[in-house]
Amino acid sequence: MQIPGKTFLITGGASGLGEATARMFVARGAKVVIADVNPAGETLAEELGAGAAFVRTDVTSEADGLRAVAAARDRFGALHGLVNCAGIAPSERIVRREGGRNGPHSLESFTRTIMINLVGTFNMLRLAAAEMQRNEPDSDGERGVIVNTASIAAFEGQIGQAAYAASKAGVAGLTLPAARELARSGIRVVAIAPGLFMTPMMASFPAAVQESLANSVPFPARLGNPEEFAALVATVCEVTMLNGETIRLDGALRMAPK
Ligand SMILES: NC(=O)c1ccc[n+]([C@@H]2O[C@H](COP(=O)([O-])OP(=O)(O)OC[C@H]3O[C@@H](n4cnc5c(N)ncnc54)[C@H](O)[C@@H]3O)[C@@H](O)[C@H]2O)c1
Repeated sequence: MQIPGKTFLITGGASGLGEATARMFVARGAKVVIADVNPAGETLAEELGAGAAFVRTDVTSEADGLRAVAAARDRFGALHGLVNCAGIAPSERIVRREGGRNGPHSLESFTRTIMINLVGTFNMLRLAAAEMQRNEPDSDGERGVIVNTASIAAFEGQIGQAAYAASKAGVAGLTLPAARELARSGIRVVAIAPGLFMTPMMASFPAAVQESLANSVPFPARLGNPEEFAALVATVCEVTMLNGETIRLDGALRMAPK
């Protein structure tokens, strides 16, 4: 899919990897709908100009998802791409140490992580795919492209990442059956599994933790830039043969148990 002139919906587009992706699309002449619960998306859309719109969207809500998809159609004429970046990354042990006593992982926090990262991704994928089916196919028969964000935690979840790793493994597992089913409509589904990227999510960790994480990456021994994630999203859009795959973007990092 050629990017200029197309419309992309980006969940989690107000911050971090999603924000860099929105900036990349607009710089390449595409339109973007920034779908996020974070009001910073409004300011970003204003900065990006007429080719950008913000729709306050909780990805776990059907009504919000429908509104975001409708905004792409009504404001910009059609929806060609979805990039799912909305997510949360809590850390919690299965058996917590609390004031000398052990307590089990909160069921509420496990469920919330699965709801946002996995159910939210699927909610937006199904609504976007239904909309993309209406597009005229291009010369390659393509009607749309969907990029989901997994994590290398899908494969090497660390201690404390039971909920996060399970949610991201779900995103990775969704990729092939979705690509297989939507193939008949000319809609591709690809997942990106980032390693460690410098985003507000990462900036919330202490500097010493960030440094030790950066040093754990074989090469380049640093945190990834959100622009590198956005560059891979652009490549996924442009290389039509990429489909049904989860692509690691991690500088050869394989995470240790903790
Ligand atoms: N930063 C990393 O190192 C890293 C590594 C692997 C995977 N990821 C994944 O990449 C994605 C983006 O992460 P980031 O680092 O840019 O984080 P971030 O916190 O900067 O951005 C995440 C965005 O998602 C939004 N969001 C959260 N819950 C939402 C909901 N229910 N509905 C709509 N929006 C919601 C937040 O408001 C925020 O703007 C996440 O799925 C994360 O798990 C990040």
